[in-house]
Amino acid sequence: MNIYKPTELSSINTSLLIPLYQKGPIPCELADYADFINTLDLDTGKLYHLAAPLKTPLKNAIILGLGKPEKMTGKKLGETIGTALRALDQSLCIYTDSVVHDGLPAKEAVWETAFASSFSSYEFEKIGSSKKKALEISLLSSDAVRPICEDALLTASCVNHARDLGNTPGNLMTPEELAKEAENLGKELNLTCEILTNKKLEEIGAGAILGVNKGSSHEACLITLSYQGADAGAPFTALVGKGLTFDAGGYNLKPASSMDGMKFDMCGAANVLCALELIARRKSEVNVMAVIGATENKIGPDAYTCNDVLTSLSGRTIEITNTDAEGRLVLSDALTWAQKKGACRIIDMATLTGACVAALGKNYTGAFTNSPEFLKELESFSQKTEEKLWQLPLDEDFHKMVMESDVADMTNCVIGKGAGSSLAAAFLEEFIEEGVEWIHLDIAGSSDFSEGRPWMAKGASGVLVRTLGEMYRE
Ligand code: BES
Ligand code: MN
Ligand code: ZN
Repeated sequence: MNIYKPTELSSINTSLLIPLYQKGPIPCELADYADFINTLDLDTGKLYHLAAPLKTPLKNAIILGLGKPEKMTGKKLGETIGTALRALDQSLCIYTDSVVHDGLPAKEAVWETAFASSFSSYEFEKIGSSKKKALEISLLSSDAVRPICEDALLTASCVNHARDLGNTPGNLMTPEELAKEAENLGKELNLTCEILTNKKLEEIGAGAILGVNKGSSHEACLITLSYQGADAGAPFTALVGKGLTFDAGGYNLKPASSMDGMKFDMCGAANVLCALELIARRKSEVNVMAVIGATENKIGPDAYTCNDVLTSLSGRTIEITNTDAEGRLVLSDALTWAQKKGACRIIDMATLTGACVAALGKNYTGAFTNSPEFLKELESFSQKTEEKLWQLPLDEDFHKMVMESDVADMTNCVIGKGAGSSLAAAFLEEFIEEGVEWIHLDIAGSSDFSEGRPWMAKGASGVLVRTLGEMYRE
């Protein structure tokens, strides 16, 4: 996305969108219109097209009301800009300097504006011949705030990348394709990338992910993409993602209404991959790896079934009581692998349970942890980005229920006890070793929106890419 300097005003070919507060200062480009602008009601979201002939290099301008400055917050500003952008549905250049006021410093105001310009104008490009021509969105910013705009646009590009991966249908975004995405990022950003497929997974004994994979004609992929921005001796954090490129449920087949949307079951993987991309592109001084378990959950002559017992990479055995509780199986091997690779802090992200959507709805991500301090740290960043988290309970009682099996160490699904999200979290925690700090994020609700928002296209949301980027900005 182009960032124009004020001196390049005459080379901007699109309309300029100028956000203005009520009684706020009027930028010098609009000095000739000050009297007219002072008559406008600049309530939040109001739009005015300036049609008068202009003496300045400025061509068409659209004024966007921002309301009272003291009422504006970073998030509200982003939503206001985004809503206008999507409603106007035309190529635009967004003037960033007028969004700053005493309560909203440049770093926040300009950042949110630039981020919203890119995030809100995202649209998944249709597959086929009816492709809509992408709108041209750009920024007009003074040199002083250019680095802020650049960081915001970089962030948005990584969030939008995650949305693209999530929105791509399962027949195209296969496990191998997801692995290729990681490989390409590795090549471009000089990261270490390791991809284990079935033969190798059998050798190391990753029986949980392989069990889920048996109903799929695609190989399973255990992907590790590693970024070392700090000293080699500094500890690694692993971002672990659930990468079910399609979840039909297996022999515990999903009903039609629940199966629709299951291409989004790899959003955890997409989001951790693109969070790592953001961290690496920023050259943050941290050591972080993304570990992704990718496969499909389908049916077929060899697909796993209820009553099967799988031996996980950790050596522990799991009785299958429901083939649709596949995410925790794939994650258990990915979590073990991350620890074998030396991670001592882990954040996993997964579209894990419908129960999480029932409990928290679409706007909240469910959070579980074995380390309240670690979660507090994450929350300090998620509060800033307003990507909402809500902690749900996890204790011994849930572990006891998970460990009740007649034939194996544990079951993958406890039936008829409720608390589906906590039971899934307890299952995952069984694979966390002593001394490892861990957070589990259930994004089953927040991963995608079937209806979109006035400031946001429908489909995958890229949730928490931004928050993780902030946490590992350093
Ligand atoms: N991918 C689903 C969870 C899901 C449900 C995500 C709805 C997004 C929207 C997961 O693999 C699943 O099927 N979970 C089961 C677990 C159950 C069998 C214990 C569920 O939530 O029904
Ligand atoms: Mn499932
Ligand atoms: Zn699933």
